[in-house]
Amino acid sequence: MSQNILDINTVELDEANNCVIIIDQTRLPSKTELINLKTAEEIWEAIYLLKVRGAPAIGVAAALGLYVRAGEIYKELTAEKSKQCNKLQDNDNVAVYQSFFDRVIKEKEYLNSSRPTAVNLSWALNRMEKVLKEWYEESRPVVNFENEKDIIEKCISKLNAEAKAIQKEDIDTCRKLGEYGLTLLKKGDGILTHCNAGQLATSKYGTATAPIYLGHEKGYDFKVFCDETRPLLQGARLTAYELQSAGVDVTLICDNMSAMVMRNGWVNAVFVGCDRVAANGDVANKIGTSVVATVAKRFNVPFYVCAPTSTIDLNTPTGNDIKIEERPQSEVTDMWYKERMAPENVKVFNPAFDVTDNEYVTAIITEYGIARAPYTDSLKEILDRKHSCQM
Ligand code: MRU
Repeated sequence: MSQNILDINTVELDEANNCVIIIDQTRLPSKTELINLKTAEEIWEAIYLLKVRGAPAIGVAAALGLYVRAGEIYKELTAEKSKQCNKLQDNDNVAVYQSFFDRVIKEKEYLNSSRPTAVNLSWALNRMEKVLKEWYEESRPVVNFENEKDIIEKCISKLNAEAKAIQKEDIDTCRKLGEYGLTLLKKGDGILTHCNAGQLATSKYGTATAPIYLGHEKGYDFKVFCDETRPLLQGARLTAYELQSAGVDVTLICDNMSAMVMRNGWVNAVFVGCDRVAANGDVANKIGTSVVATVAKRFNVPFYVCAPTSTIDLNTPTGNDIKIEERPQSEVTDMWYKERMAPENVKVFNPAFDVTDNEYVTAIITEYGIARAPYTDSLKEILDRKHSCQM
């Protein structure tokens, strides 16, 4: 019996085998393949190659991955130590302790280099690093030969708790965000979405798809148009697949058809996810999003951006300051074809994301409410609300 893709976790921690399990999203929809990630290289590559992708999901995968790495690093260090056991002196134990922290921090930096645009990756890894550094500061004055093992194990269990908290918060966040998003919709609405900001990009519900899933549960009968999303086809391969699996009425269109469906009056709202929100409300999302926003403005269709607060980056003043990832040319010329579909040696530009200026954004929907222009004020208010709720 074939399993519904929505019943499989996008990212999962396998504690017994100390590894992260992901659905290999590059094989969907034709193959559902789960892969185990244990080494730093495997985790880095899975993120870089988009086996796991979508801003929240890469944050969760990296956090769980760093926890797994901490356990493996400690195992490696103890194995090295037992090999050299005869030569050991008392001080070497503290050297293991020091090596453990140094190596986990180094691998954190390495994982952080896998993709540059989605801020959730560094946001999640920075949370893990904070836990690590705080425990280091607390334990350093008291570590010795006798208690070193306990201290490192305690650190690993703190990393476990933090990584799991990041994953759990992602589920709660998407649900909450979906509830806010649903207040902007009515029964029977036509919705257009770009890329995949669905369950496959998060731990559950998705961001842009969360209002759709919640509305679907309540019988809203939405009609969703899904941009295929060149060049990696996240819309066709992932969004159309997961929405169809949930029983949502979904129609796949090519990216250049959005003006047509909006002109026809079939779209009441655009919902997209995002990878980074700058302090002024400019948003970076999958390449092609800014075209959709421009078309939506032309046809007076509201353009909503769904962003967990972990995607808001007040340290980035405007969209011009967001680093946009560029990816291999072969994704455009070869990837989906039996034979190359472009002349040899033609120049290719393949940015993975683009920036939509804040003036095109009707509202930014977060788990702490809906922000509207001027975003410099409203995003700050949202984050203040979050901090006061956490106190
Ligand atoms: O390159 P991808 O597939 O990781 O890009 C994903 C997107 O742009 C999503 O819209 C974004 O990460 C939001 S996911 C909730």
